[in-house]
Order: sequence, then C-alpha cells, then structure tokens
Amino acid sequence: MGWKRHRLLWVSAIFLTGAATMKVMAHGWMAPKDAAEIKNPIVMDAGSTRRGKEAYLDNCAACHGENLEGLKGEDAGLDNDTPNLKQRLQTHSDGDFFWKINEGRGQMPSFKDELSDEEKWHIINYIREESN
Ligand code: HEC
Repeated sequence: MGWKRHRLLWVSAIFLTGAATMKVMAHGWMAPKDAAEIKNPIVMDAGSTRRGKEAYLDNCAACHGENLEGLKGEDAGLDNDTPNLKQRLQTHSDGDFFWKINEGRGQMPSFKDELSDEEKWHIINYIREESN
C-alpha cells in the first residue's frame, strides 16, 4: 500500500471519529435503548395530568421552571441553564425521560427513591400534555 493511500485512510478515520463524537454531543444525554423503549403504563387522562402537575410543581419547577421551559442557571442557582422539558419530550420517549428522572446526572438529582414510579409517569403525562 502506497503512502498516499495510507494517508487517505488516516484522514478518513480521523474524520469519522470526529463526526461520531459530534453526533453524540448533539444528541446529548440518552437513556439505554431498552429503558427508552419502556411504554408509559398510565393512561394520559385528566386525573393523571392533574397529579403529574402537582408533583411537577413540588419537585421539578424550582429547576425547570413553572412553565417547563427551563431556567437560566443563575435563576435556578445552578451551574448551567436547565433543559426545556416540553421541547425535549418531543424528541425523546416517555421511557427515556423515566430513566433520566430515576438516574439523574450532574445537578439533576435522582428521583429513584424520592417519587413512586406512578408519580413519575404522571409527571411525564403532564409534560407530554403541555408539549403537544
Ligand atoms: C436541582 C435542580 C433540578 C431538579 C429539582 C430537577 N431537575 Fe431535571 N435537570 C436538571 C439539570 C441541571 C439537567 C441537565 C442535566 C444534564 O444534562 O447533565 C436536568 C435534566 C433533566 C432531564 C433530561 C432532559 C434531556 O433529555 O436532556 C429530564 C427529563 C428532567 N431533568 C426532568 C426532571 C423532572 C421530571 C424533575 C422533577 C421530578 C426534575 N427534572 C427535577 C436539574 C434539575
């Protein structure tokens, strides 16, 4: 193999690695595939979204804003701005959100033991309703 062909391979390899890294960064935080595929077991009716709204205001609004659209870091007392949950849920599944609420990351706390599974699904129904 001549050196020119070698160089071409290296350039492609570096380019592909860079592209893959950028894709991951653009995608941000993703739940594992099997978790993201879990379906919301709770029907999105008025009772569910009402309970979800109450739990949201008690547990989430201080960081994500009463309107679910995220807050500036300085307003929430955090290092960075918080994500707009209405927008994010349009490109993520209910299962993806459920997993993230359980796991937490950085300044996003884990709610695994703080809220029941049911309450978390109610919250997701509420965000889903608001993002439609
Ligand atoms: C103390 C502040 C704080 C509280 C309280 C909080 N969050 Fe977060 N949340 C964050 C931060 C910061 C991030 C960004 C984390 C990251 O990307 O590293 C985040 C990220 C998320 C994400 C991921 C969005 C995405 O796909 O990138 C979801 C979903 C979420 N929060 C839902 C909730 C829900 C629901 C509640 C209430 C049960 C809640 N959060 C409470 C700070 C908070």
